[in-house]
Amino acid sequence: MALLEVNKLSTGYGEIQVLYSVNVSVREKEIVAIFGSNGSGKSTLLKTIAGILPLWEGYIKFEGESIDNLPPQERVKKGIALAMEGRRLFLGMTVEENLLMGAWVSKDLARERIEKVYSYFPALKEKRKSLAGDLSGGQQQMLSIGRALMSNPKLLMVDELSLGLAPAVVETLAEVLEELRSKEGISILLVEQEVRLALEVADRAYVFDLGRVVDEGPSEELLKRDSIRKAYLSI
Ligand SMILES: Nc1ncnc2c1ncn2[C@@H]1O[C@H](COP(=O)(O)OP(=O)(O)O)[C@@H](O)[C@H]1O
Ligand SMILES: [Mg+2]
Repeated sequence: MALLEVNKLSTGYGEIQVLYSVNVSVREKEIVAIFGSNGSGKSTLLKTIAGILPLWEGYIKFEGESIDNLPPQERVKKGIALAMEGRRLFLGMTVEENLLMGAWVSKDLARERIEKVYSYFPALKEKRKSLAGDLSGGQQQMLSIGRALMSNPKLLMVDELSLGLAPAVVETLAEVLEELRSKEGISILLVEQEVRLALEVADRAYVFDLGRVVDEGPSEELLKRDSIRKAYLSI
């Protein structure tokens, strides 16, 4: 059974349809990437899974149960966490305060969770009293992911992992995602514009174009595919 099953999902904003009958699944302990051109609906899918955006047609199941009628906070309690595109931090608050904002699900466990986050991101521990607005881009991305981890998710969704970050920082972040999978058993759904990175980190990937899934498969197969190499890897 898939941990997450998105089946024939259609949705959009107001009158404008953005996603057309999208099928995406994530199994336990799997890292799955989504890539595709700007505006192809990747963020829209993650927002719909998180419950921020309603769906029009299709269904979403998590651990075999429909979550379509659950508000966002109930989905968080079930184990779905989203580190949003653009990081959406409270820039005037400290690192630790931002992390605590992600812990409303279980306040008692907050301290334990914070130490867990610091163990994956030691840079955040050093900066715990600094304002989020004073962090580097890479540290802000760590904080965004760290905040998502505060709710102890089974599925971590990260929207645009590498955007605007230096390669060394991206490498660190990718290693942490792999560790979260192997040590914590967390499944990861990653939206990533850097296709090479996406396919290096992920077990499987989906290619989005104009709101549709146009290709999918194991990463090593996609890496070999001529259409992918020409369109996304410039080989
Ligand atoms: N809040 C919104 N209101 C109206 N249209 C939106 C909104 N957010 C995104 N869109 C539109 O939906 C389409 C898909 O956007 P998005 O999911 O952000 O794509 P991606 O993340 O793949 O770049 C785009 O055409 C975008 O303009
Ligand atoms: Mg996006």
